[in-house]
Amino acid sequence: MSFAVTLPDQGQFAAWRQAARLAISHRIPPGKIDWAGGAGLFATDPLPDSPGPHQARVPEQFVKLAGSVIWHSAPERFALLYQALWRLDAREGEPLSQTDPLGRRLTLMTKAVGRDIHKMHAFVRFRELPSDGRRRFAAWFEPGHNTLEPGSSFFAKRFADMDWMIATPRLTARFEAGQLAFHPGGARPDLPEDASESLWATYFANIFNPARVKLDAMRSEMPKKYWKNLPETRLIPDMLKDAEARVQRMREAAASAPRPGAAAVSTRYRATMPAAQDLPETLAAAQHAAQQCRRCGLCEAATRTVWGEGSATARLMLVGEQPGDREDLAGRPFIGPAGQLLRHSMAAAGLDPASVWLTNAVKHFKFSPRGKQRLHQTPDRQEILHCRWWLGLELSFIRPDLVLALGATAALALTGRDDPMTARRGQIETGLHGGPVLITWHPSAILRQRDPGARARMTEDLAADLATARHHP
Ligand code: URA
Ligand code: SF4
Repeated sequence: MSFAVTLPDQGQFAAWRQAARLAISHRIPPGKIDWAGGAGLFATDPLPDSPGPHQARVPEQFVKLAGSVIWHSAPERFALLYQALWRLDAREGEPLSQTDPLGRRLTLMTKAVGRDIHKMHAFVRFRELPSDGRRRFAAWFEPGHNTLEPGSSFFAKRFADMDWMIATPRLTARFEAGQLAFHPGGARPDLPEDASESLWATYFANIFNPARVKLDAMRSEMPKKYWKNLPETRLIPDMLKDAEARVQRMREAAASAPRPGAAAVSTRYRATMPAAQDLPETLAAAQHAAQQCRRCGLCEAATRTVWGEGSATARLMLVGEQPGDREDLAGRPFIGPAGQLLRHSMAAAGLDPASVWLTNAVKHFKFSPRGKQRLHQTPDRQEILHCRWWLGLELSFIRPDLVLALGATAALALTGRDDPMTARRGQIETGLHGGPVLITWHPSAILRQRDPGARARMTEDLAADLATARHHP
């Protein structure tokens, strides 16, 4: 007799464990179970309802391994695990050992799952949704394996006091009022990665509340009907539109005198999210990838990407606006006049630059040429949002306990809010990455200040905020 087992999409580990226990208690051999729910050709029965007489031997090490391998996407994972369980019980060799082909296979699978969970933690990009009560965030993510379920508790801890949702093709995790629950998968957003925030917000607002829109209905009706009436339909991706956007970015960048060859370089601009296997897995790989970044027009005229520096295990991260003229030429953050003021204030507060991570919200210098000079220009909202991709990577690898936002650009990139600085300076806000962000003045804002009294006050504020940052628990 052969048996068929159908496992649910959600709560798969508990369901598999229950079925495997039942099967082994009846000593049903591995070859007699179809874990794909009886889709095979031979006739099958469901497993017996009640446990059989056999008391199986299930080592703790196996339960742990199974609890990870189960999230792998390979359809044969259930059968492989049952085979291992069967052999453990029957004492047929050492099925979990590295010298056994089955053991090796299972180890590779658990490693792949671990990497996938790590990637999810590093690459989920939340967008804030309009809300009149608790802050709400949403993200679309396509994991390589079925890792949303095991990977979600991490976000539940980080975003404990907010509501959020992560939609993936297979499952959607929703965290509302402190409760984590899983629902059917979401519709793939038919949006370019550089779609405007309001378009993303519209997309998420409609899937955030399942009572408002039925997910299945959305899946079948998107995108045509859904987008038809949106004022921003021009942002729906197609080659032509992207070309148009590229030309526009070039035009903007032309204000800062592109280098020869910039036009050719700009065709490498990538609007889409890199495929999972191309995502950098280390801070060094992220830095390397950032050198080639063509996400916005600022790469056209600047000399190079200026990456962060300092300690990769820093507990404190300082985020400025963008590199200035000196930084652009040297390839290091905060070495010009503003950098000197910052470094001086840091030293006074007892902060060693080598023990923190020092970086910028935007990684390329934006300027307009004036004779031989290059005059600083404030990056615009879109540039800040494009470059947040890199800032998010730095955050996910360094995982600081506190981030100090120097000025409005950093504050916007880190929190998604652009309320005036005067009301925010000295306050700790929650960043889009889920951690605390202390808001302070940008050293350049202090240098620009003409009134000596105001300048002295701002310098004191910066000193006080650096001291707070240093002593942050
Ligand atoms: N201003 C910044 O915000 N960052 C730098 O690296 C230099 C000046
Ligand atoms: Fe990429 Fe940032 Fe440079 Fe724009 S400013 S090209 S997003 S690194």
